[in-house]
Amino acid sequence: MFESRVPDSLDLEFQVPSTHRLRFTNDIFAGDQEVLADLLETSPGRTPKVQFWVDECVAQANPDLKSKIRNFAQRYKDSIELAGNVQFITGGEDVKNDIHVMERMLKVINAHDLDRRSYIIVIGGGAVLDAVGFAAAIAHRGIRLIRIPTTTLAQADSGVGVKNSVNLFHKKNWVGTFAVPWAVINDANLLRTLPERDFRCGFSEAIKVALLKDATFFNWLCEHAGQIRNREPDVCSTAIRESSRWHIRHITEGGDPFEALEARPLDFGHWSAHKLEVMTDFAVKHGEAVAMGVGIDCLYSARTLGLDRKHAVEAIRALTEMGIAMWHPLLEESTTLFEGLEEFRQHLGGRLTITMLNAPGEPVNVHEIDQIAMQESMDELAEMVSATSDRT
Ligand SMILES: NC(=O)c1ccc[n+]([C@@H]2O[C@H](COP(=O)([O-])OP(=O)(O)OC[C@H]3O[C@@H](n4cnc5c(N)ncnc54)[C@H](O)[C@@H]3O)[C@@H](O)[C@H]2O)c1
Ligand SMILES: [Zn+2]
Repeated sequence: MFESRVPDSLDLEFQVPSTHRLRFTNDIFAGDQEVLADLLETSPGRTPKVQFWVDECVAQANPDLKSKIRNFAQRYKDSIELAGNVQFITGGEDVKNDIHVMERMLKVINAHDLDRRSYIIVIGGGAVLDAVGFAAAIAHRGIRLIRIPTTTLAQADSGVGVKNSVNLFHKKNWVGTFAVPWAVINDANLLRTLPERDFRCGFSEAIKVALLKDATFFNWLCEHAGQIRNREPDVCSTAIRESSRWHIRHITEGGDPFEALEARPLDFGHWSAHKLEVMTDFAVKHGEAVAMGVGIDCLYSARTLGLDRKHAVEAIRALTEMGIAMWHPLLEESTTLFEGLEEFRQHLGGRLTITMLNAPGEPVNVHEIDQIAMQESMDELAEMVSATSDRT
């Protein structure tokens, strides 16, 4: 008689190997087409299906994009199959606020029989990347996703992340998954058509990651804030490269890519940012809300922790010089804003854990927020912003 030796309790650790592929290009649908083609793995006798999803605003701003995509597919027709027409999808937060869009995406994916070796290539801002990424992650439990971010925020931050989501129950990112994209391509040319406001506010995530990880990068960003505002290509490209490198390093080397631990260290400044976005019905953009949130949490870190106040002032000055709005009247509704703390905790479960700063490059996790000191920090930011606008 065969007797099983399996004990009643079995805890086996295992790891799933992953590769995070990041590429930088100048013009992905012209001189750099090969970069994309090389990412599409083929096997003998099998031509992978490739489906393109494009942010409508990007398509409107680039009327020849559709034909460029078709030319790309034509050029590589021996190794890939274009699965249906190029799909267009509403740009901005609207796409994440309408859960029905998800159904449409899944229907299209199903109608063209995409499988787990097919590719979904999504071109757009962070919102479109999040929504299409979510559909790709749940269809067949995961179709290969190539992100081509078209905003500074998505190139510097969200596009290289491993999260996707849409909003539900009037809460940001309530439904979504963790999924490592097959690849991310940061293309400089696609940023050309980005409106000023979106272009500038993406760099708040660069300031955020620099404050968390690298004092030298933080100082460099502060020195080049004016050039970023003026969209100087070399400066912007360096800022995006360095910011995305820090984000990808955090994910691949930080030991907690799927945020199982209590801290979300990359979410410095985000507890108030997420709440403010919802409070303003997304009139305040994510990058702007992050800039304000970083400003507030820097001042709080200076009041209650070791951060030298001059660094808080410098961060706020740099964000302002980049041309990012640093205040919104609804920040005065602090009772509602403070609900963001509890929502932040509840999203992760466990203890409240908010990352603050001891110094640039020296984050620290705190488990309590002194609401009086936080209120004073918000008042201080309001005063600093009004003093700056009086001078200009
Ligand atoms: N998944 C993550 O880890 C993560 C992290 C940070 C932010 N996010 C999400 O990213 C979203 C914000 O993304 P965003 O800042 O990229 O903005 P966005 O996607 O809202 O885009 C801003 C606007 O610019 C348009 N646009 C985008 N690229 C353009 C281009 N090149 N030319 C012309 N118009 C263009 C879009 O259609 C939209 O109207 C938020 O939903 C936020 O929650 C996700
Ligand atoms: Zn963010």
